[in-house]
Amino acid sequence: MRKKIVAGNWKMNKSFFEAEELIADIADALENMELTNTEVVICPPSVYLEMATDIAEECNIKVGGQNVNDNDSGAFTGEISAFMLQSMEVDYCIIGHSERRKYFSEDNALLKRKVDAVLKHDIRPIFCCGELLAEREAGHHFDVVKTQLEESLFHLSSGRFLQVCIAYEPVWAIGTGVNASPEQAQEMHAFIRQLIADKYDNQIADETSILYGGSCNAKNAAELFARKDVDGGLIGGASLKSDEFIEIIKSL
Ligand code: PGA
Repeated sequence: MRKKIVAGNWKMNKSFFEAEELIADIADALENMELTNTEVVICPPSVYLEMATDIAEECNIKVGGQNVNDNDSGAFTGEISAFMLQSMEVDYCIIGHSERRKYFSEDNALLKRKVDAVLKHDIRPIFCCGELLAEREAGHHFDVVKTQLEESLFHLSSGRFLQVCIAYEPVWAIGTGVNASPEQAQEMHAFIRQLIADKYDNQIADETSILYGGSCNAKNAAELFARKDVDGGLIGGASLKSDEFIEIIKSL
């Protein structure tokens, strides 16, 4: 059975001490919760990863990076490799977030190499896909997402693909307070699952966790997660407050 996952993408927020407090609060709250077949993932800024993995190893939390370089090592000043993430016991890495695509010009070809880089080091990619507002308004949203998956993920063998987690994040919903409706999310998630079934098989499609992201919060999470193909969420703003993040986890 595929996993339910709630992942917090902290982006470029929090001082070291604030970050430590936040993850400790989440860890405390999780101690009293029964989580079956559910994974809670925290993706802090990379400078806090070691602190996060130290706390996480004592509890039920997994830790993820927010980005990775596609090379293993070398003269790439300021960058972080999958080899380095693995050496810090990081379990997941967000790849292809729309902010990386927009502000750092990351394209599907580069993201394909990043996916390969993390899988080589046994790190699960949380691969983000999703359309711009103009693309949805023009009715191209299915095509956009299909191309993103085809160009960055569908070269993988079945065995490797099984390590991938997908996050559908319509760009118009990220940080805007306007989430996709549960119907819109379900429609796209079912479409993504069908693409996986067509490329691989039904069993692999069934095993793949597909998360929703974009203004998901404690108020709308339950309704979104109730849809049959929505297996959890990638949470930005609402993951920065422990109470709200815990409420979202309880909505699974
Ligand atoms: P948001 O961000 O929840 O703040 O909309 C989601 C994301 O960017 O992953």
